[in-house]
Amino acid sequence: MRFSTLSLIATVASAAFAFAAPSPRAFPATGAIEARSLHDINSIISGTTTSLTPLIQELYSIKQNNATVAGLTPVINDIESVLNNAITDVKALAGEALATILTTTEGVQLTVNQVALLVIGLVNLIFGAVYAVIQTVSALETAVVYPLLASVLTLLATLIQLICGLIAGLLAELIPLVGNMIMTVVSILGLSTTYTFLIVGAACNA
Ligand SMILES: *[C@@H]1O[C@H](CO)[C@@H](O)[C@H](O)[C@H]1NC(C)=O
Repeated sequence: MRFSTLSLIATVASAAFAFAAPSPRAFPATGAIEARSLHDINSIISGTTTSLTPLIQELYSIKQNNATVAGLTPVINDIESVLNNAITDVKALAGEALATILTTTEGVQLTVNQVALLVIGLVNLIFGAVYAVIQTVSALETAVVYPLLASVLTLLATLIQLICGLIAGLLAELIPLVGNMIMTVVSILGLSTTYTFLIVGAACNA
């Protein structure tokens, strides 16, 4: 898994290099992934993770000077566009046989628990970067920056719910994997209702 993700990153990175456009925000990685036909959940989550990785690094580069709506909007828009592509891909899996959804391009059929680990990896990747921004943003900016961060996590909640809708038993495997950092971010951003499905009892703390 790790190796195939790394080779995918290398492939996408070289594609990004080959197609390097004048605009620094050109999006060859997304195009490269969309060009493949994605019939399994592993491909979608791996491709999404690959596309998100440079954007997540940008979030970690945010300092107080650019922890602002102007500084964050371009990267947030790009992250949302990657998540929207993932949502489209997951919706396209509806109607496929469960075995097809679970079988990687290498022909390995994942267990539901393995899918849960992939999903929580993606969730932690995004939440971790959002948490870093939360810790950076000045008190003066929170009122405008928090809704921007919340919009990404709302889209992520939709993606998680769509994936759980495809695979029976996945949500039950996912819930115990949710850590304190996720709960903290959900609470700070006022997303308890949105994340009730994942965080048992979250609505009580809203
Ligand atoms: C934010 O500003 C820092 C310098 O303070 C810079 O290194 C970083 O690349 C900037 N990040 C983004 C996403 O603009």
